[in-house]
Amino acid sequence: MTSLSFDSLQQGKPTRIEVDGVPVCVARIGDEVFAVADTCSHSEASLSEGDVADFKIECWLHGAEFDLRTGEALSLPATEPLATFNVQRDGDSITVVSKE
Ligand code: FES
Repeated sequence: MTSLSFDSLQQGKPTRIEVDGVPVCVARIGDEVFAVADTCSHSEASLSEGDVADFKIECWLHGAEFDLRTGEALSLPATEPLATFNVQRDGDSITVVSKE
């Protein structure tokens, strides 16, 4: 479990945090916040350095896209989904929790 401030999250600019030692990419879209595994399922790239558009994040290394809501791989070269994390919001406080 990791907490951060909603106001610290910028639209279209993902943030990398750690949850229980696992790197996690947190992205704000409007008033919603999504959290997926930060390491691309294709290779060793940090998705928080990628671009967010609509509800998708694009890996900067080879261009695979993932759905931030489900972790689903939407385009090659990635074929495996990303793990997703639960996000709880209480005012300005965002808490990201593993789903296990
Ligand atoms: S490392 Fe992300 S698409 Fe290749």
